[in-house]
Amino acid sequence: MRQVFPGVFEENRRLYTLNSGATGDKLFDEDLVTVDSREYRGWNPLRSKLAAAIVKGLPQLPIRKDSKVLYLGAAHGYTPSFVSDIASEGIVFAVDFAPRVVRDLVFVAEKRKNILPLLADANHPELYCGITGAVDVVYQDVAQRNQVDIFLKNCNVLLKPGGFGLLALKARSVDVLQNPQGIFLVAKKELEKKLTVIDYRLLSPLQKDHAFFVCEKPKS
Ligand SMILES: C[S@@+](CC[C@H](N)C(=O)[O-])C[C@H]1O[C@@H](n2cnc3c(N)ncnc32)[C@H](O)[C@@H]1O
Repeated sequence: MRQVFPGVFEENRRLYTLNSGATGDKLFDEDLVTVDSREYRGWNPLRSKLAAAIVKGLPQLPIRKDSKVLYLGAAHGYTPSFVSDIASEGIVFAVDFAPRVVRDLVFVAEKRKNILPLLADANHPELYCGITGAVDVVYQDVAQRNQVDIFLKNCNVLLKPGGFGLLALKARSVDVLQNPQGIFLVAKKELEKKLTVIDYRLLSPLQKDHAFFVCEKPKS
């Protein structure tokens, strides 16, 4: 296994994380591979925008082993489970407003000691800030028309100065008719009013009409 980032590995052009759950436990029918007595979980870039961003050449992954991560749009927990492997000594606050998916997320969290599911609307960080406190990383994948506003609101309220915001932006959710490139550039300008955009890349063809932004919150 070749380490791509701390906690992320690659072999034969496939991505893996070190399994921080119980040995042999498949959460999503992922491949499990054991090398030198360590178990790795296969991570599918067709299913995860973060994995797609890494495959597409993300220059840095600002999630550390001990990071406190606010994950907005956690759904059934697929990508959150890999974030929980990377931040294996940190915590992942996994927010979603759909009760049906949060039920599945609870099953994932029962098998991982560092995922805390929260049934909440990401438009209202004031509802969960008392639980999460300030975080090192805000990760967002909500596919909503006001994705950028939701992201900026959460970064403003909950991201520590010097912390990082990772945004998976779905153009079709903002406007189905407009050219995705135009939507991404408008979003980038909006983000730059409050944050430093460190990296911006397109996720096509792995994730159609999606872009991925890495932002840093100014220290003062
Ligand atoms: C594309 S899915 C996320 C997939 C997930 N990030 C992954 O990679 O495994 C988008 C999720 O965002 C959730 N969502 C959309 N708007 C939201 C909001 N305002 N607050 C919380 N969750 C939201 C939806 O319920 C849905 O589960």
